[in-house]
Amino acid sequence: MGSLEQVAPALYPPPKDFASKAHVGSLEAYRALYERARNHPEEFWAEVAEREIHWFEKWRQVFYWDPPFAQWFVGAKTNASYNCLDRHLDSARRNKAAILWEGEPGDQRILTYGELHRLVCRFANVLKARGLTRQDRVVIYMGMVPELPVAMLACARLGIVHSVVFAGFSAEALKGRIQDLGATLVVTADGGWRRGREVRLKDAADEALAECPSVREVIVLRRTGSEVNIKPGRDFWWHELDKEVGEHCPAEPVDAENPLFVLYTSGTTGRPKGILHTTGGYLVQTTATMKWVFDLREEDTYWCTADIGWVTGHSYIVYGPLSAGATVVMYEGAPDYPQWDRWWRIVEKYRVSIFYTSPTAIRAMIRQGDQWPLGHDLSSLRLLGSVGEPINPAAWEWYYRVIGKQRCPIVDTWWQTETGAILIAPMPGATPLKPGSATLPLPGIEPAIVDMEGRELGPGQEGFLVIKRPWPAMLRTLWGDPERYELQYWRRFPSTAGLYFTGDAARVDADGYYTILGRVDDVINVSGHRISTMELESALVRHPAVAEAAVVGRPDEITGQAVCAFVTLKQGHTNYAQVAEELRAWVAHEIGGFARPAEIRFVESLPKTRSGKIMRRLLREIVTRGEVSGDVSTLEDIAVIRRLSVPDED
Ligand code: PRX
Repeated sequence: MGSLEQVAPALYPPPKDFASKAHVGSLEAYRALYERARNHPEEFWAEVAEREIHWFEKWRQVFYWDPPFAQWFVGAKTNASYNCLDRHLDSARRNKAAILWEGEPGDQRILTYGELHRLVCRFANVLKARGLTRQDRVVIYMGMVPELPVAMLACARLGIVHSVVFAGFSAEALKGRIQDLGATLVVTADGGWRRGREVRLKDAADEALAECPSVREVIVLRRTGSEVNIKPGRDFWWHELDKEVGEHCPAEPVDAENPLFVLYTSGTTGRPKGILHTTGGYLVQTTATMKWVFDLREEDTYWCTADIGWVTGHSYIVYGPLSAGATVVMYEGAPDYPQWDRWWRIVEKYRVSIFYTSPTAIRAMIRQGDQWPLGHDLSSLRLLGSVGEPINPAAWEWYYRVIGKQRCPIVDTWWQTETGAILIAPMPGATPLKPGSATLPLPGIEPAIVDMEGRELGPGQEGFLVIKRPWPAMLRTLWGDPERYELQYWRRFPSTAGLYFTGDAARVDADGYYTILGRVDDVINVSGHRISTMELESALVRHPAVAEAAVVGRPDEITGQAVCAFVTLKQGHTNYAQVAEELRAWVAHEIGGFARPAEIRFVESLPKTRSGKIMRRLLREIVTRGEVSGDVSTLEDIAVIRRLSVPDED
């Protein structure tokens, strides 16, 4: 669970000059929008869709609901790539910077909308020349280089589903995703730069591809220039294929419900879930929230520090901002390379005006000291954002004071891979802020706090956060697993059937402000990255020395939560220090470096109920408080608790 601090009573009204120019400039204006959406949801979304998106053909019906399967803008034709590129080319935006890119070594590229369009058309032609059709799925495994959004937009242009796999995932994780999707093409790079070292992407892809028979071809971008293995007939260099194609490639009108992408995220089982998003509703809502939440204006320079491998990067680096015609900053590398002021250097250099990051990053910056941001001119900033985990009021205040100089509102945005777009967040020209609260639901979003029986709870009571009405950018299903989709999100408890179950605990105050408390399921949130405890446990027990493993989240000052693994070893393994090292490396290999356990505790046995279920609640208490309270009568071996309560040296 997130921060234990109480929400501070302080209230921060929108600055007057901010509100006077904002898209939504008063609480009354917000309320009017909210009421309109609540009373006439279909008309409301139709108006937003009409205003924000180009449609080749209009819808026959705004919304079709066959619970839990939704369709939005039924029968309409649009194209995500067209909306992000072509429609900007007839105006001054043609020569406006779409992407201001900086590589970690310091190299730079500026891509105007015109140039980005040209690159996307060329790459779409490459995909066509390789024989790809709408029946194919493309997996993209690249670092933060401009060719990553180019590849995504090229797929979207042709109506081909893409799935981006975060470059921090291991070969093993990549393999699982390619196999689950049955992808036919992989787009990758030789490598990418991170903290001055090369991340060897092509090597990892090769390892994964050894067991991915569905993949016919691999396209490799030259980024680092290092030596890589090129398998003749399967692997092709991007720059070589590019020489063979032209620049004319019209965007194909696709159905509003045509799948746009699949993005895998951790669930409560060992197997990641492929979240499926479609085209029309997703674009409508990601574009609208750029104005509602980020108050985007033509002259803004917008920077979201997320990686495009996560949903934040999909919705708020690529589709939302480009559809809205923004200038987007994109940075390849680590925030502390070569020093801890790299981000503030970038803000100063490009005159960033909207800056969107995670609480973990903010806490890491606090720890490094104020001298890093204070050494730079941050006066271009006008709005700050936070996403991915609860922001504790102390970090909020620092962000507000040291980065925003008490001038910039902070939008704490609550949403999920599944929701596609931001659902609960301030409108910065309208909503008075309360540090630690994501504030009010956006128009068209009807959240509630309920108990186990699905009863709505009143102000101040903690419960499950649910959403009562479908929204355009919501996931449509889980790739290849509609039953799991239904069970996981719409029938978690029999009594909550028909309500979208977020998996988060929250409370609402008397003003209707939401405070998100953290996950209620077996998902932990490390640095804003979702990790399933089951996925970690199954990775650990695949190691030959491990008999059993149980993983819980432990509160961490910087990363919010940290992975703590309780492990029992098979007979004969007693060199704990060495095994602990091996297990950390093993998790990095099986999932990715970001999932490495912060702590491994070796125990003789794990506490279990009589039916053999591991009692994670007890383990959570041990790592949180160092002791156990409550009812332990169902324990198989009470004595085990005492042994568990003291960390074993590893
Ligand atoms: O627990 C909530 C937390 O992140 C989860 C969603 O994770 P993911 O799908 O990876 O998407 C992260 C980026 C949208 C949520 O269930 N979360 C996200 N934003 C916030 C948050 N918790 C508190 N406050 C937020 N602003």
